Amino acid sequence: HSHLLGIEPLAPHDIRAVLDLADTYAERGRSGAKHGDALAGLTQINMFFENSTRTQASFELAGKRLGADVMSMAMQASSIKKGETLIDTAMTLNAMHPDLLVVRHPHSGAVDLLAQKVNCAVLNAGDGRHEHPTQALLDALTIRRAKGRLHRLNIAICGDIAHSRVARSNIILLGKMENRIRLIGPPTLMPAGIGEFGVEVYDDMQKGLEGVDVVMMLRLQRERMDGGFIPSEREYYHRYGLDAEKLAHAAPDAIVMHPGPMNRGVEIDGELADDIRRSVIQQQVEMGVAVRMAAMDLLARNLRARRAPQSVMA
Ligand code: CP
Repeated sequence: HSHLLGIEPLAPHDIRAVLDLADTYAERGRSGAKHGDALAGLTQINMFFENSTRTQASFELAGKRLGADVMSMAMQASSIKKGETLIDTAMTLNAMHPDLLVVRHPHSGAVDLLAQKVNCAVLNAGDGRHEHPTQALLDALTIRRAKGRLHRLNIAICGDIAHSRVARSNIILLGKMENRIRLIGPPTLMPAGIGEFGVEVYDDMQKGLEGVDVVMMLRLQRERMDGGFIPSEREYYHRYGLDAEKLAHAAPDAIVMHPGPMNRGVEIDGELADDIRRSVIQQQVEMGVAVRMAAMDLLARNLRARRAPQSVMA
């Protein structure tokens, strides 16, 4: 692949290739051997048109740990504020010969559009409610490490599914790897036509969580609700917030996940989020660096192969 724009175009063997390499990077990171040279001589530009803590920091660290020249654009201070378009901004940076462009944008499809205009590898760091592929990959790696496999698991994704690119990328990835997916949340926060994805839909947490191996919680994405239905936080926590009582319906060894940023006391109980016997939220962050190292390493190998001069047979 030339870009990483979503999970949709990836085959199961592509997903396994990223996870296997990321596993190696994760182990090296734990043993203190954090640095490598897979991206030496390459230039990585991060363009985040939406706020980020985890994704931006981990892409920057991943690039630096693999030897790239990394520049994170401060988009709030860029000429976008003077009316320059996304494409003109991208073309301007493209003229400086980057090799890897990491882009987050509030509009679904904006990153795909940009990838058609530039001649470097583009990684989608989250576009609107469309896809967040590296999040789904890091979630998959976290699950595989905790459960020892990434197939035939019962996985509940809970909360605001309708506005979540994390949910969308996870539903696609976990479906491709043959897991059983349950979506739990208020009907008003379920996307139309979700049944076509081969998932089960519940609006009752206790019923939906029955016997599941993995519980993935999501934040209410208020910034994407366009003034439509916004639940009251108290009512929402009562019905859909994950606490020890609701988790008791899941399998006894079920893990609790959250992509962050989390709102304690809204979609998840703070104590449960911090309970390292059940919560793998910090491992998700750790795997985020490893997965982004692996994704950029694999794209860079492809980039170098395409750029290598063709040998001339005598
Ligand atoms: N999970 C995630 O994308 O977090 P950030 O918005 O902080 O990058």
